[in-house]
Amino acid sequence: MENLEELQESLLNRVATAGDLEALESLRVQALGKKGEVTQRLKTLGSLTPDERKEAGQRLNRVKEVLTEALDARRADLEERALESRLVNEAVDVTLPARPAEVGRIHPISQTFEELVAIFGEMGFSVAEGPHIEEDYYNFTALNIHEAHPARQEMDTFYMRPAADGSRKVLRTHTSPVQIRTMLSEKPPIRIIVPGRTFRADHDATHSPMFHQVEGLVIDKKSHMGHLKGTLTAFCRAFFGVDDLPLRFRPSYFPFTEPSAEVDIGCSREGGELKIGPGKDWLEILGSGMVHPKVLANCGIDPNEYQGFAFGMGIERIAMLKYGFPDLRIFYETDLRWMKHYGFVPLEIPSMVRGM
Ligand code: PHE
Repeated sequence: MENLEELQESLLNRVATAGDLEALESLRVQALGKKGEVTQRLKTLGSLTPDERKEAGQRLNRVKEVLTEALDARRADLEERALESRLVNEAVDVTLPARPAEVGRIHPISQTFEELVAIFGEMGFSVAEGPHIEEDYYNFTALNIHEAHPARQEMDTFYMRPAADGSRKVLRTHTSPVQIRTMLSEKPPIRIIVPGRTFRADHDATHSPMFHQVEGLVIDKKSHMGHLKGTLTAFCRAFFGVDDLPLRFRPSYFPFTEPSAEVDIGCSREGGELKIGPGKDWLEILGSGMVHPKVLANCGIDPNEYQGFAFGMGIERIAMLKYGFPDLRIFYETDLRWMKHYGFVPLEIPSMVRGM
């Protein structure tokens, strides 16, 4: 039993250098398990004389005690270290940004929708919607555009197949049918904008068979041409971000407004570069007018009591002018590289306070 000292020292050494809880456990089994080094020795005690057995037994038990203590201490130590490293690894840095950087982009048309809603929302307008496949009646007749009216041809209408009764729905050629739908379902005062999709059989660098418009409609007892001018002037100045942007109202004709006006914004083209603002040139951007008494009457609104104005403009057109896109077909090509370059960052939501 002379080598008991050595055995104890070697076991304590291995305990001290056990790298993790698993290694420590297998060491415990090697020493104190059923076939462990210490256990084996305890089993040999029976072959000794009683005196020898007593002494050797005490020494062996002492080794066992010392070893058990060392194992317990080492386990506690390793457990604490494992916890510490877990805490370090799982720590959350609360100063990091709450979201990863946005990868997607907002399409310029969607962005322009948001801008329109922000500006007109500030003026007290709400957003109305209507179907893309529209009754001929709402798209034309109720708007004072009769069967033989040249506007029906001029609008290059997409017609659906006729129904059994001969009536044909159309892909709406403008957002104006939502004027009718709103006046039929709501009582004045009415103050809405209608941003939405529209369709005409036309295709070149500045026309697409599918495009977008925004309609505006105000109906109450007093709104007049002056309010129309003020509203559109405030809108254009906010949208284009030019405080002294001049507007020109030219007499025009639409079947559903009387009087009617087309609206131009000022621009200059010095050195071949188009700049929106005070200048020698004008750009036409929208149609407008006082809602025709017949249109009010078609919607069950008494034209002797109520009046108001309406306007409509092409969203691609104002987006192209504001952001300088030369060709509108690129809007619909779903080209990711173009979106990455011209798209808008999702969280930069336009508002009158933050700017457009
Ligand atoms: N709907 C007309 C168009 O598409 C625009 C317009 C709307 C004009 C409202 C006057 C009033 O050209």
